[in-house]
Amino acid sequence: MKTEYGHNIFFYGTSDMQNVLMNRNIRELLNKLHKYDTSIWQHAVGTACVSELLLDDMNIYGADREDVITAALLHDVGEIELPQALFKKEDLSKKDYERLYKHPFISAKMTGSFVSNHTIMMILSHHRTRDGRGYGIGIPDEMTEIVKVADVYVALSEPRPYRNAFSVPEALGIMDRLAETGDIDKKIYARLRKYLFCVGGAKQSCHLPHNCNKYAFSV
Ligand SMILES: [Fe+2]
Repeated sequence: MKTEYGHNIFFYGTSDMQNVLMNRNIRELLNKLHKYDTSIWQHAVGTACVSELLLDDMNIYGADREDVITAALLHDVGEIELPQALFKKEDLSKKDYERLYKHPFISAKMTGSFVSNHTIMMILSHHRTRDGRGYGIGIPDEMTEIVKVADVYVALSEPRPYRNAFSVPEALGIMDRLAETGDIDKKIYARLRKYLFCVGGAKQSCHLPHNCNKYAFSV
């Protein structure tokens, strides 16, 4: 479904995403993100899309579902406040990382007046592990772990200035290790993994079901 939101964005979102975008503040913030950097905006939409797949698989509806989609769309929106050059660099200095580590707090501050407390908690803890590692603050709950799995998968599927996009088998190899170390939730990751089916021999092709396909890549 194609809907026009704001001035120049044609948003191909699912009905869940469009439901969240009924909130004008969220819509305006996402429009700002799109203007700032379309690839960060695309990452947000991709994360929401993969989160939705997991929510379907786990039969989660109601307030939790809306909180997950909202957090997935807004988790990195605070990056708007950071210098754009930071996202173009191949090598990040210690100071650059310190700046980057602030984005969960900035995202929470920007969204705090119009999203639920649960969503704020999810945004603040989306780079944290259950044993308290990582940056941001708080301990991720099960709903946050959904966003984390989706976030990591989509991020690995995207190119960065310092690397190409990982193929699906490469991304799965990395995520297998992250699940072992507790960086992502093992059970939730297993739910995503079962959807990532690959066919073919040496020239494999991997797919995600339905409208998240555009975030999966052929290898
Ligand atoms: Fe983030």
